[in-house]
Amino acid sequence: MKLQDKVAIVTGAASGMGKEIAKLYAKEGAKVVAADLNLEGVETVVKEITENNGVAKAVQVNIAEQDDIDNMIDTAINEHGTLDILVNNAGIMDGFEPVGDVLDERWDLIFDVNTKGVMRSMRKAIPIFLDKESGVIINTASTGGFNGAHAGAAYGASKHAVIGMTKNTGYMYAQKGIRCNAIAPGGVATNIASSMESVSQYGMERTKPVHSVMPRAGEPDEIAKVALFLASDDSSFVNGTVVTADGGWTAAF
Ligand SMILES: NC(=O)c1ccc[n+]([C@@H]2O[C@H](COP(=O)([O-])OP(=O)(O)OC[C@H]3O[C@@H](n4cnc5c(N)ncnc54)[C@H](O)[C@@H]3O)[C@@H](O)[C@H]2O)c1
Repeated sequence: MKLQDKVAIVTGAASGMGKEIAKLYAKEGAKVVAADLNLEGVETVVKEITENNGVAKAVQVNIAEQDDIDNMIDTAINEHGTLDILVNNAGIMDGFEPVGDVLDERWDLIFDVNTKGVMRSMRKAIPIFLDKESGVIINTASTGGFNGAHAGAAYGASKHAVIGMTKNTGYMYAQKGIRCNAIAPGGVATNIASSMESVSQYGMERTKPVHSVMPRAGEPDEIAKVALFLASDDSSFVNGTVVTADGGWTAAF
């Protein structure tokens, strides 16, 4: 087992990639705090894990709220005495709006969830990791975090920022026993489209040719396997970087 007795928080664990990461980590021996806005969904995932003899606890968190983030991390400490792995995976899509159509409220929500939530969670976890001189952070970015035509301006900018934070964090704490990496998934079959509201037809049309060269959509468990690699000692020399998992899509550009 690659994560025996490690304590891991996975955000966005009710669905898609987060759900598969939580399940795989538990299978590999981790004690998982499965966090999501959707409490019912995350409780179902935890039930599945515990029925398979894994250890997991569900926590409701709105990652856009500092108090919820504090509670999420405190839960790991109160339940298991420590934290070893933080997976910042919760995220939402925009409506493919080009910058000329971006609404402030939409921009703020995308950044509060996709970017500020990641920063705040890392900020809360870092003192714990510094104290024990070890810790692993994995941020779910996106191929939209280094390309311009995978979604709208807000989503792309929010994920570029996640990659920037990941690199900075990996470098800053490299000599403190802390590793921080991002995964850049390409198109993956999840429920992410349900977070898309008032979609821009113009934005959709402009990105269509780029999406049309995607070799195939990935499955969430294919991303979970990358997240396992990055959480385990198998990736001990991998730090401050981005692992792309897109089936070859962005190799085209
Ligand atoms: N699916 C894709 O094609 C794709 C591609 C690249 C990157 N991503 C990224 O992968 C990550 C996981 O998304 P997914 O595709 O599995 O989608 P998903 O919608 O299946 O799962 C996302 C989960 O995040 C939760 N969530 C949303 N807002 C939240 C909030 N404010 N606080 C806490 N939880 C919240 C949702 O309830 C959901 O359970 C996201 O960061 C997304 O941006 C997805």
